[in-house]
Amino acid sequence: MWEYTDKVLELFYNPKNQGTIEDKGEAGVEISTGEVGSIACGDALRLHIKVDQETDKIIDARFQTFGCTSAIASSEALVEIVKGKTLDEALKITNKDIAEYLGGLPQEKMHCSVMGQEALEAAVYNYRGIPLATHDDDDEGALICSCFGVSEPKIRRVIQENNLATAEEVTNYIKAGGGCGTCLASIDDIIIDVQRGITSSPQNSTNSNYISQPSGKKLTPVQQIALIQKVLDEEVRPVLIADGGDVELYDVEGDKVKVLLQGACGSCSSSTATLKIAIESRLKERISQNIVVEAV
Ligand code: FES
Repeated sequence: MWEYTDKVLELFYNPKNQGTIEDKGEAGVEISTGEVGSIACGDALRLHIKVDQETDKIIDARFQTFGCTSAIASSEALVEIVKGKTLDEALKITNKDIAEYLGGLPQEKMHCSVMGQEALEAAVYNYRGIPLATHDDDDEGALICSCFGVSEPKIRRVIQENNLATAEEVTNYIKAGGGCGTCLASIDDIIIDVQRGITSSPQNSTNSNYISQPSGKKLTPVQQIALIQKVLDEEVRPVLIADGGDVELYDVEGDKVKVLLQGACGSCSSSTATLKIAIESRLKERISQNIVVEAV
């Protein structure tokens, strides 16, 4: 029998936010869903968020969870925490915040709080139009635990965010190592790397191609291009079109974003200023300070 806090039991017995959000076609709002886990693995969480498009605020949220007491309580806690937050604020929520809101979780159940954080990220990424084969970019790294499909970046991240010191703790948080156990030595190695401040293993060095959002989240190259296109389409092009110009994304090489200026922008003597001010600064602000825009 697990030792649960009163808050866990309260939210488990009286969840107020279970279910879905009906799409009534309201203007200015959008509903997005993030899903993690699988029923076959014992836990699954589907989080629905309703976003005010003008303010970027989450004005409602609901969950559908298949799982144990702590999975239900973590989902309910997540919804209570996230309501009223902007999407950027929501992306800063960690699994520790969820566990603390609950007054703590048994170590063996910490993976429920991680699942909540991941579902939230998936819902926000989905809203922002970032294509995801799975819920997050962590899956781009080397696969460490084949039993539970857990990659090195994900293990590294949970160790760092929660100051984990043993493979057993990692298993409690993200299940990795909890099956056949053949990955436990690799998990121990990653823990040592993290404690020594080694940021990634050689086989995962391709992650240096990723860029960070202001939230600190890393984007894969595909996510990066999709987000650049989204920012251009929604925040840059309308301004340029209003001035008789336009811009088209030509290519992305690391942090270098190549664009084609069109219409009035292409022949305008102040096109360099347009690039730097209207395009580069917006991409820096929304995606990464390292971005450099070039006209081709
Ligand atoms: S490979 Fe990780 S538990 Fe089997």
